[in-house]
Amino acid sequence: MTKPILVSGIQPSGRLHIGNYLGALKNFVELQNSGKYQCYFFIADLHSLTESYTPEEKHKQILELTADFVAAGLDPKKSVIFLQSQIPAHSELAWILSTITPTGELRRMTQYKDKSDNEKDSANTGLLTYPILMAADIILYDAKFVPVGEDQVQHLELTRTLARKFNSRFGEIFIEPQPILTETPRIMSLKNPEKKMSKSDPSSCVFLDDSPEDIRAKFKSATTDSGNEIKFDKAKPGISNLLKIFSAVSGESIKESEKMFAGSTYSNFKGAVAESIVAHFTDFRKRKSTLLARPKTLTNLLSSGSKKASLRANRKIKEIKNRVGLTV
Ligand code: AMP
Ligand code: TRP
Repeated sequence: MTKPILVSGIQPSGRLHIGNYLGALKNFVELQNSGKYQCYFFIADLHSLTESYTPEEKHKQILELTADFVAAGLDPKKSVIFLQSQIPAHSELAWILSTITPTGELRRMTQYKDKSDNEKDSANTGLLTYPILMAADIILYDAKFVPVGEDQVQHLELTRTLARKFNSRFGEIFIEPQPILTETPRIMSLKNPEKKMSKSDPSSCVFLDDSPEDIRAKFKSATTDSGNEIKFDKAKPGISNLLKIFSAVSGESIKESEKMFAGSTYSNFKGAVAESIVAHFTDFRKRKSTLLARPKTLTNLLSSGSKKASLRANRKIKEIKNRVGLTV
């Protein structure tokens, strides 16, 4: 039996933080290594053009994210690793899907509302149509599974709706994909545990390639709660977030982690969480800087992955165009 297809992407729009890692990238590596899927992982560079950037920055961000992927354990021998913009079929399918997408569906997307909130009419159109391109990224590959963080689940629901709609109008051609979430699908900001850790607010983030000193300082000043018990509890969002982070990197359950820190002070606990992160990313940091010293290897890796991905994508877009009647 052929293995089910799994697809996911990350935007090259800045350094990865531990939310990206614990919600997505760490799981990409585990899913890849499980051997149960045909994996496609890509750099969502077209999506990232919806945020401000310079061309020099963009090029650098693409290389950095490719290095992040490989340093974290994605392996071009096991997964197809590619660059979205190298495969025109993504944009072509996005256009076709846009003609069956009601604008109202896009306007009610939480991410769009958050990102366009203070821009109103000047928000770029790409921010609005972003989920259509994401749907295209997924259904173009007949993906059954999509590992993502919780903030992307609404976009996946739209993807399913569009696949269904297209199928009922033009005949069964697309699979409705399902999200795969981790135990930590929503890591919260260290400054404000009521808000998600987000690249758009760098002060809320611990980055994967932060220096050990920075990591320690950030955890030291993390917002905690009243009381003094290390306990997973809705009323203790700061401590609960730290427990989740610790549990995810150490592999200990939340219950075990609570036991380990029973009687410990908040300050000692924060120090221990910081050390677990410092240790977890020591090799990652080394591998990343080695990879970045050889940018040509990274661009070659992407080109060869994109070649492989386009075999599947080109076959599919041809079939889609046929269904729609775009044939002469
Ligand atoms: P992005 O950088 O927006 O492309 O996000 C990359 C991946 O990280 C997506 O699957 C997101 O859902 C996930 N992600 C982003 N922020 C968080 C967070 N705070 N906690 C868990 N997952 C996250
Ligand atoms: N929108 C995703 C994010 O911001 C990135 C993304 C683009 C993606 N296309 C995708 C994720 C397809 C999964 C599948 O995190």
